Amino acid sequence: MKIIQINSKETLEIRSKVLRPNLPISTCEFLGDDDEKTFHLGGYLDDKLIGVASFYSEDHDEVERYQNPYRLRGMATLDEYRGRGVGKNLLNEAFLVIKERQGGVLWCNARTNAIGFYEKLGFSVVGEEFEIEGVGPHFVMVRGL
Ligand SMILES: CC(C)(COP(=O)(O)OP(=O)(O)OC[C@H]1O[C@@H](n2cnc3c(N)ncnc32)[C@H](O)[C@@H]1OP(=O)(O)O)[C@@H](O)C(=O)NCCC(=O)NCCS
Repeated sequence: MKIIQINSKETLEIRSKVLRPNLPISTCEFLGDDDEKTFHLGGYLDDKLIGVASFYSEDHDEVERYQNPYRLRGMATLDEYRGRGVGKNLLNEAFLVIKERQGGVLWCNARTNAIGFYEKLGFSVVGEEFEIEGVGPHFVMVRGL
């Protein structure tokens, strides 16, 4: 498996299939996708893109005590390739990149049913569960670097 930086357009197909299957692909373009500080990682197996994740320089009330916070969005592995470590490898690579950039923390709005995945990667839940309209229940999760 290979983890490399990709561009925002390359994330769209997997974001759409995994995260927004019943919505137009335009809903898979996120604010800040092409900002200078944003980066996107792709996981490849035999030259096939099987997982993606995106990282934005973005603040949140829950991470005020950290310097230079980054936000994770669009974390997705194709259904048929789950459980092979691509999600883990994408995040471990992101931790290195963010640390190199003097980022102090990575946070995300985690779907409640993905909390166990993030906990294995060192994230902790902060605050109460909340609903994202049309997507479902979430928690803010934080991983200091
Ligand atoms: C969550 C997701 C990205 C995980 O990707 P993945 O490539 O299957 O993850 P990995 O294979 O790297 O798993 C790493 C570890 O987390 C565990 N894990 C994976 N998904 C999990 C989940 N939903 N709950 C609890 N543990 C989970 C794996 O068993 C593995 O454990 P191990 O290291 O002890 O073997 C993937 O299941 C997915 O795309 N889900 C649908 C979209 C989604 O919920 N995205 C997150 C939105 S916030």
